[in-house]
Amino acid sequence: MKKTIKDYNLENKKVIIRVDFNVPMKDGLITDDNRIIESLPTIKYAIDNHAKVILMSHLGRIKTSDDLGKNSLKAVALRLEHLLNKEVIFVNSTRGLELENKIESLKPGDVLLMENTRYEDLDGQKESLNDEELGKYWASLGDIYINDAFGTAHRSHASNVGIASHLPNGVGFLMEKELKLLGDNINNPKRPLTVILGGAKVSDKIGVIENLVKKADYILIGGGMAFTFLKAKGYQIGRSLLDQDSLEFCVDMLNIYGDKIIVPIDVQEADEIDENARTAFVDASQMGTNKIGVDIGPRTIELFKKYIMESQTVVWNGPVGMFEISSFETGTKEIATTLAEIDATTIVGGGDTGSAISKYGLKDKITHVSTGGGASLELLEGKKLPGVEIIADK
Ligand code: 3PG
Repeated sequence: MKKTIKDYNLENKKVIIRVDFNVPMKDGLITDDNRIIESLPTIKYAIDNHAKVILMSHLGRIKTSDDLGKNSLKAVALRLEHLLNKEVIFVNSTRGLELENKIESLKPGDVLLMENTRYEDLDGQKESLNDEELGKYWASLGDIYINDAFGTAHRSHASNVGIASHLPNGVGFLMEKELKLLGDNINNPKRPLTVILGGAKVSDKIGVIENLVKKADYILIGGGMAFTFLKAKGYQIGRSLLDQDSLEFCVDMLNIYGDKIIVPIDVQEADEIDENARTAFVDASQMGTNKIGVDIGPRTIELFKKYIMESQTVVWNGPVGMFEISSFETGTKEIATTLAEIDATTIVGGGDTGSAISKYGLKDKITHVSTGGGASLELLEGKKLPGVEIIADK
């Protein structure tokens, strides 16, 4: 068990909380504030316990100076201020006198947000490569370090691994919740445990399949990756996505775990990837030579629903079709709706699958929509996350 924010007396202490405010933005506006909302319990706890709260996060990727302005955390500070109903002192630098003075003048219960930690990447990728001096410097600004940035836990940055090596540390409530829900429900699930995997490439999910095939009762395969599995069954898949390098892996998996790995029995095929393209539902073994598979078909939806409705725990990572195009969204929408209706523990990975849940307004009906894309995948692969490993045990 890792130490948590509750293991420390925060009174009058400068508490650095690493959050993941890497939120999607369009034209300077935040398009999904789930990550900010999910970080509120930890921030509020620190405020209520009279800490001087110093928040740090990255936003986007900084390669050249052109990336700076559009990746400023200023808009996030304003949104946080609104959500907390409290002033958030925003400092538009990541080091230096102004930052240090503002931190020194914080009063208990004040909240300060520093500019995007990846601004430090302009000079030799100091944040992303966990520069020793930078981690030490940031640690010198606080008394206690709390890592609540689950979405970044698979990275080894100065702002997570670096600072944590130099300060008393613990995890925040969001990190604790994510590790419990994604970890315990996989390692010690209420059964049956069904895992739904989708997304484009099998290669992105090989580690997940290898880890989960031993733990889950069923793995339902949809999305672009399903077509490599269908090819592995010897079907012709037209112009559908084929992950050639993973074909052998799919053949092996179907041979060994054919009773657990459930692939589509019918698919929606289209002439083109276009909203107005001509489409048809066909048996998975009967695809046209020139067609592209874009979604699972109605019989597969019913089959998948049967497994889902029998389950006590369902974990879903990856849309089962190209749901961003409305004429190809039925499979993903039906799976999302079924998950929202069942009386079971339902966990949805972040990234695209989380966006699908938001698109259909179902977030409140899912046990947990993870704030981590890459991090949740690595956890499902059974990997250790550097941002968690560095935190002290109780
Ligand atoms: C994420 O969105 O997956 C995390 O915030 C990490 O961001 P990154 O992929 O840019 O490191």
